[in-house]
Amino acid sequence: MASEPSTKIPLKTLSSGHNMPIVAVGTSGLSFDPDNAKGVIIEAIKIGYRHFDTACSYGSEGALGEAIAEALQLGLIESRADVFITSKLWCTDNHPEHVLSAIKTSLSNLKMDYLDLYLIHWPISTIPGPVTFPLKREEVMPLDLKGVWKAMEQCQNLGLTRSIGVSNFTTKKLEELIQFAKIPPAVNQVEMNLAWQQQKLKEYCTKKGITITAHSPLGGQNRFYPNLVLTSDVLKEIADAKGKSIAQISLRWILEQGVGIVVKSFNKERLKQNLEIFNWELTEAERAKIRSIQQRKGVTTEIMLASEGSLTSVDFADIDIVET
Ligand code: A2P
Repeated sequence: MASEPSTKIPLKTLSSGHNMPIVAVGTSGLSFDPDNAKGVIIEAIKIGYRHFDTACSYGSEGALGEAIAEALQLGLIESRADVFITSKLWCTDNHPEHVLSAIKTSLSNLKMDYLDLYLIHWPISTIPGPVTFPLKREEVMPLDLKGVWKAMEQCQNLGLTRSIGVSNFTTKKLEELIQFAKIPPAVNQVEMNLAWQQQKLKEYCTKKGITITAHSPLGGQNRFYPNLVLTSDVLKEIADAKGKSIAQISLRWILEQGVGIVVKSFNKERLKQNLEIFNWELTEAERAKIRSIQQRKGVTTEIMLASEGSLTSVDFADIDIVET
């Protein structure tokens, strides 16, 4: 019998019929600290996290797979089915004939026989080859979305993943996808936080039965742009008055939008703190203050592309992800 986690995370039923724990731990920086990676995931499982978000491009699939195997051995979970694993197809594999081998590579890295959710990572395709980041502008190619999606559907039909979806898709890209999808995307994982509230995309996805999961829910931490969430004076004021942290106010607001969250922390106390968001609410006055926060998208196509070189076979508008 597996030990009970300290927090039970609510589930959201996806359009595929499968249940997804609404808060996930992001693993995108974990490969920078491989010695710590397994420990962070095991700690997260002890705290109550059951959903882990990885990607071929993060280099964290191997450590995640090892951590899940160890959690099983330790009796922290009873079976593979107790965890929900999301992974993603990288731009170099964003070609109809590469999807199947890409998911098999991810499964082999994870040492698992199925994913819970497989996402097209970006609406961008580049010349096939090893994972590269940033993307070379001259290697960006037109995306055969119809062909790639058909291959994603095949992955689900073969039982290699329970659900399929996309990431960083705008309403325009989703609209294109929905025209030919036989299996609709269950999830669109996008940047969503208090500095980029995504109300247009949220309304569209709600109407279409697509679950949004918010990445960079705390504004993200990277060298490309300043974090406008954790440094916000408006949020500090709300947090101080409410006896919560800015992170908790931010995560609670996202939760109240009815969407999922992928939050990263490699710190035990912050992992715990980020789950203490279920049994209290924001007031209408606090929500109104939050709506007034200046909006600015952090994760843009520009930061995906190398600064030198130029696009040769697509227009920037074809790969732009800023919602207008
Ligand atoms: P750390 O790993 O040191 O906790 P996002 O999920 O928006 O990409 O942001 C992740 C960043 O936010 C990480 O650098 C993480 O750092 C930090 N972070 C995560 N949880 C908290 C928290 N509760 N308070 C402050 N910073 C946090």
